[in-house]
Amino acid sequence: MKRTLKITADGSHTFHVSDIDESYHSLHGAIQESLHVFIKEGFLFHPGRELRILETGFGTGLNAALTCMETGKTGKKIRYDSLELYPLAANEYSQLNYFEKGTRSREIFIRLHECEWNRSVNISPLFNIIKLQCNLVTCELPGKYELVYFDAFSPRAQPEQWRTEIFRKIHNAMTSGGVLVTYCASGKVRRNMEESGLLVQKIPGPPGKREMIRGVKK
Ligand SMILES: C[S@@+](CC[C@H](N)C(=O)[O-])C[C@H]1O[C@@H](n2cnc3c(N)ncnc32)[C@H](O)[C@@H]1O
Repeated sequence: MKRTLKITADGSHTFHVSDIDESYHSLHGAIQESLHVFIKEGFLFHPGRELRILETGFGTGLNAALTCMETGKTGKKIRYDSLELYPLAANEYSQLNYFEKGTRSREIFIRLHECEWNRSVNISPLFNIIKLQCNLVTCELPGKYELVYFDAFSPRAQPEQWRTEIFRKIHNAMTSGGVLVTYCASGKVRRNMEESGLLVQKIPGPPGKREMIRGVKK
C-alpha cells in the first residue's frame, strides 16, 4: 500500500492511499474528526466507567492515542482491541505530527505503535490495548464490546467492509446497550446497520461534514 503524508485543514496530518484514492481521515481536519466522531459521540457519550472498545482499523493510532488521553481526564478504564490489516511502518508513523515532541502524549502515541501486535499491553493503568493484525472481513471478533469505533475506509473504496454481514458480526460481539459510531452517514450504510439489528441515528458530524451515524444495540 503506497501512502503519502498529507496535511488536513486543522493542521494535523493524515495519509493518502493512491491505489484507492482514499485518506485515513477527513481532509477538513484529522484530529478534529477523531475528537468529534469517536471521542465526543462515542467515548464520552457512553455512560460506562469500564469499557471494552473495538476499533477497525488502527491506522495512524490517532483514535487510540486520543482515547488513552481521555482516560486520564475521565477516570474511565479501557480495554481497547484494534484490528488492522496493513500496519504503518516506523518511518511512516514517526512522521505524523500528532502531539508535540517531548510530551507525555507523544510518548504514548509512539508506545502505541511500538508495542507488539497480537499481545495485550498496558499503556497506562487505565488503558490496555491489543492490536490485532487481521482482516475485519474474515476474522472472528475476540471479545464483547460496549463501544465500537467503526473507522474503515469509505464504502466507495472498500464496500465489502460495510455489508450487513459485517455489521451483524459486530452486532453479535456487542453488549446490550452497546454503542457503535462511524464518520459515514450514507443511507445504504444506515440500512445495512439497521438490518444487522442496530438502532441507528443520524447525528451532526464534525466540521465540514453534516452528519455521522451512531448505532445502539437494543
Ligand atoms: C480510515 S483508516 C483508520 C484510521 C484510524 N482509526 C486512525 O485513527 O488513524 C482505515 C484503516 O483500516 C485498515 N484496513 C483496510 N482494510 C482492512 C481490513 N480488511 N481489515 C482490517 N483493517 C483494514 C487500513 O489499513 C486503515 O488503517
